[in-house]
Amino acid sequence: MKKERADKIISSQSTITRSETVKLIRSGKVKINGEVIKDNSLKIDPQTDVIEINGEVLNCKKFIYIMMNKPGGVVSVSRSPKERTALELLPDNLKRPGLFPAGRLDKDTTGFLLITNDGEFAHSILSPKRHIKKTYLASTSDYIPEKGLEEMRAGMVMDGEELLPAEVSLFKEGTNSSGPVYKITLCQGKYHQIKRMTALAGGALTSLERISMGNLTLDPELAPGEARELTETEVELIRQGQK
Ligand code: URA
Repeated sequence: MKKERADKIISSQSTITRSETVKLIRSGKVKINGEVIKDNSLKIDPQTDVIEINGEVLNCKKFIYIMMNKPGGVVSVSRSPKERTALELLPDNLKRPGLFPAGRLDKDTTGFLLITNDGEFAHSILSPKRHIKKTYLASTSDYIPEKGLEEMRAGMVMDGEELLPAEVSLFKEGTNSSGPVYKITLCQGKYHQIKRMTALAGGALTSLERISMGNLTLDPELAPGEARELTETEVELIRQGQK
């Protein structure tokens, strides 16, 4: 990121609008490297200058990569006029303009949702050519017949679309009170892919959770609805997770 006006940098790195930023600066609420500034056009370097707003240091980066443990009942789109979005659950220090979910999860699917403002990165990990793995735990009301599991492993044609072979294994046996859980790894991301695949294979899905993307696993410390920024190493683990 290059040197820019303080009001422009702050509004691009937070949910504070440009005009609110100007007001904050003029009222002495913004410090750069420990000094109060009053001039909103002052050029600052977001990489080296420490920006404080109301005493809180602003986390300035061109791109941000966030892991959320998506709860059920929220949609994974950037904006929705009617429904609650996963982005609305982000804490203020992670919110900024241009964030979007990289790879959608259905409203009722839970687990690892990646949120970023880096379009190129999102494109590279979602591109069908890259075959980045995504692993899910799929609970079904009853066991999927062996023939259906073999079809999923061999690759299947669904509504005229070719589905690449999936890795499928039994993760947890069913009990008297709940059905079995399968671990399914895909290297594609077609619309409702697991729901449709399991139905075609003879299973009825009762819940679905994404537990990893590439070689990065959902952080067990994140409760549903919680999110945290990823480290560079973690972002690399996603990128390297090809099948
Ligand atoms: N497959 C589905 O059916 N739903 C999801 O949310 C993800 C994969």
